[in-house]
Formats: sequence, C-alpha cells, structure tokens
Amino acid sequence: MQSITVTAPGRINLIGEHTDYNNGFVLPAAIQMAATATITKRADDEIHLTAIDLADSLILDSIANLRINEKQWANYIIGVIVQFVKKRKFPTGFNISISSNVPIGAGLSSSAAIECAIAFGLNELFEFGIDTMELAFIAQKAEHDFAGVHCGIMDQFASLFGKKNKVVLLDCQNMEYRYFPLDLGTYQIVLLDTGVKHALASSEYNVRRAECEKGIQIIQQKYPEVASLRDATIDMLNECVDPSSLVYNRCKYVIEEIERTQAAASDLVMNNLIAFGQKMFATHTGLSKLYEVSCPELDILISEVESNENVIGARMMGGGFGGCTINIVKATAVNEFIEQLSTAYQTQTGKQLTPYLVSIEEGAHQS
Ligand code: GLA
Repeated sequence: MQSITVTAPGRINLIGEHTDYNNGFVLPAAIQMAATATITKRADDEIHLTAIDLADSLILDSIANLRINEKQWANYIIGVIVQFVKKRKFPTGFNISISSNVPIGAGLSSSAAIECAIAFGLNELFEFGIDTMELAFIAQKAEHDFAGVHCGIMDQFASLFGKKNKVVLLDCQNMEYRYFPLDLGTYQIVLLDTGVKHALASSEYNVRRAECEKGIQIIQQKYPEVASLRDATIDMLNECVDPSSLVYNRCKYVIEEIERTQAAASDLVMNNLIAFGQKMFATHTGLSKLYEVSCPELDILISEVESNENVIGARMMGGGFGGCTINIVKATAVNEFIEQLSTAYQTQTGKQLTPYLVSIEEGAHQS
C-alpha cells in the first residue's frame, strides 16, 4: 500500500464528565463530524504536513528531532508521530494532508479526531500492528505532550472505538467497555454550541486534575488503599477533607458523577429515559456549582431548558468553559426548540447559537 485515506470522528458524551482521569465511567459515542487524513509514502525520508482547511503546510526537519511547532494545528500531528518513533521505525518518509469538519472549541474533540486519524492511518499504512487501545494511548500522549492538556482517555477512545448507533460505557479503571444501542424512541439529541471557548479552558482543566489528586492524597492518609476517586466514598471524603475547601467540592462532584454514570447506564438499558434525563441535569448542577467548569453562556442554556416539557435532559458537555450543551429533545419539537433557544440566547448574551443534530457513527476507519 502506497497511500491511505482514513476518517476519525469527534464525539459526544451522554454522561460521565471529568470522570475518565479519575478512573470512573464515561458514556460517549462517535459522531458524523470527523477528521480525514490522507497519508502517502515518500521515496525519501522527509515528512510533509498540509492542513487543507487552513491552506497551510510544513516540512518537518528531522524525524529524530521533532519538537513543538509554532503552528498549533501541526502539533496534534507531530505529537502522534513522536509516539510512533518511540515504538517503531518508519521505513520511508510520508506526506500527510488533513482536513476536518469537527467544529473547533465546541467540546466535540476536534483535536482527538485529528490525533486518532493520524495514529490509525500511520498504523495501517506502515502495517505496524499496534492494537487499537494502544493507539488511543498514543493519541492521548500527543495531547499531553504537544497540546499541554492532561486529558483523560475518553475522547481518543471514543474516536477509535465508536460504533454506529451505539454508545459505549467505558470503565476507565481497567479499560473494559460495553456497547449499548442508543434507542431514544421519539426523542433526539440536539447540541447547542455557545460559540465561546474561554481562554482558561486548558489551564483550568489541568488545575481540576491536580485538585482531584490532592483530594486522593488527603484521603490516602487515612485510607491508603484508595488509589483514585473511584475507590473513595462520600463518607471517606466527609471524614478526611475540609468540607469548606475547593478540593472537597471537586471530589464530591467526581464521586457522585462516577456513581451517577453507572446508574444512568442502567436507566438506558431499562429504557427509562426520564430517569436518565434527570441525571443529566444533576450532572450539570455538579459541574457548574461544585466542579466549577461551566460558564454563564452554558448555564443560561441549561436554565432555559429546565422547565421545557419537550426536553427530558440537558447538560454542558466535555471539558467546559464553553462549547456545547447536549439536550434530549422530543423529535417533533426540535425546530421550535432551536428557535426558542436561539432567541433566548441572543437576547441574554448578544451571541449567536449554533445547533447541531448528531448521528452516531463508526469510529476511525479507512475511507
Ligand atoms: C475533555 C478531555 C476528556 C475528558 C473531558 C471531560 O474532553 O479530553 O479526557 O476529561 O474533557 O469529561
């Protein structure tokens, strides 16, 4: 094979937010918005990168000496190549051209889509035989080292493992996963994009991780067997951590969310959408009040839908500080819902709302 074209999608997450790096559960699915990469072997050992959407390109210096580049788009690609270089030897150089229709900053994992397209594509083209779970970790490491975000594994996992019309419950403690058909009956998923991405998103993300780790350290003084917040209980937290501290609030949210996600997955299996939707609202309250990763724009969108009888569940989605809300809306009322929300959002923030109707699609694949 001389050349390959691959597609790797963005993701939604139904519930289980900020739980992945705490060894908890997540319930994501891959969506129709995706990154597409064409990778072609070269006769020499050079690496040429092209970002089709930006009409920008770059020739990398030397494969042995790859570093963070001033072109931000290139870092998601270079970060992945660096991980491959640590594990395998490239027999030739290659050209990569990439484009994506995953909106940037919307909390739909546009960066994971690019990382996973590159990881999946290089592995296939050069027949490296790296298993798909390992590719997810490679893509995650690229995000850590080249984008500076100490993300969990959810986004890269979802982009690689997604299945058409299925959500996947991933246990981030042991990476075991189970697919569920997503049957929303007369309801539909609607994403509402605030159009904002606050500058502190990635720095605050890393701060939240550190706060969770601090909580674990405190709990471990009394309960050394607690390796992560997955092992902690609210009773342990109450016993060990000052309830007026931020660390307490962060840990409380995470411990509750890990439990809520398991219960929500059961609701889905039992087809109890009402109970599922109520848990989504509870997640939003926790993310906003305890974990403090929401923002006024997201909170406005949630308070606007809370008493709307056509909406059974809604919450902010992804890392936070902007991006989208995910809403479960009566299918026959979707147009009316979008109109109402767009007007309310414009009136209260002066900003324009972008709705997305998502379909659930296959994870990374050759196109
Ligand atoms: C971002 C990260 C994920 C996850 C979510 C929050 O999308 O990349 O690993 O932590 O935020 O659930």
